[in-house]
Amino acid sequence: MIIAIDGEASTGKSTQAKKIAKELNIDYKDSGAYYRAITLFLIRNQINSREKLDNDLLSKIHISQKFKNDTFSIFLNGEDVTSKIRGHKVSISVSEYAKKPEIRKFVYNLLRKSSKLSSIIIDGRDIGTVVFPDADYKFFLYANPEIRAKRRHKEINDESVKIESIEREIRERDNKDSTRDIAPLKKAEDAHVIDVGYLTIDQVFEEILEKIIY
Ligand code: DC
Repeated sequence: MIIAIDGEASTGKSTQAKKIAKELNIDYKDSGAYYRAITLFLIRNQINSREKLDNDLLSKIHISQKFKNDTFSIFLNGEDVTSKIRGHKVSISVSEYAKKPEIRKFVYNLLRKSSKLSSIIIDGRDIGTVVFPDADYKFFLYANPEIRAKRRHKEINDESVKIESIEREIRERDNKDSTRDIAPLKKAEDAHVIDVGYLTIDQVFEEILEKIIY
């Protein structure tokens, strides 16, 4: 079984995907985390997003993800980079790197390989449209950017970070992700759409679970 959870930035896709993975005892992969880890590798090696990436370079990138006992971890060439990939520099650069066809192909291969090993839930932007157009279940989460920024602000819990700047970053990322030529963020025709803006985490979870179980 393959379950795709796509949607806009900061709509709680990974929170939901992890809860569903735990409930159904299936594997979980965070596709955005792959793009973030590759971005971290390229930034560290001073390779900008306009450079062409050859197979030689890509063969130096080894990434694995683990979801165990409710905890998600990601390793880049053996190093645990779970927190590092959420840093500001990676967050503002990842959309530019994620546009590159070589990088997308690299991530698609990883995701498709994982799907052959067990049932899986994957969150991202193009999982139900491009990576797994035949996924068994597809969901698309969205919400007003203002609400998403408020929630993200609460999560960050740092008064020095302004809500307005979070909202700007969310809007910019959505804009870049949905207007790129290759695999843009868009709802799959057959996705179940959920406006998460006025729902709690548990309400969204119940709505998703109900669709899968019944
Ligand atoms: O889900 P996230 O915010 O961690 O994703 C980081 C970036 O990766 C996002 O801005 C765009 C890119 N991404 C993508 O292009 N395709 C995906 N399936 C997942 C993420």
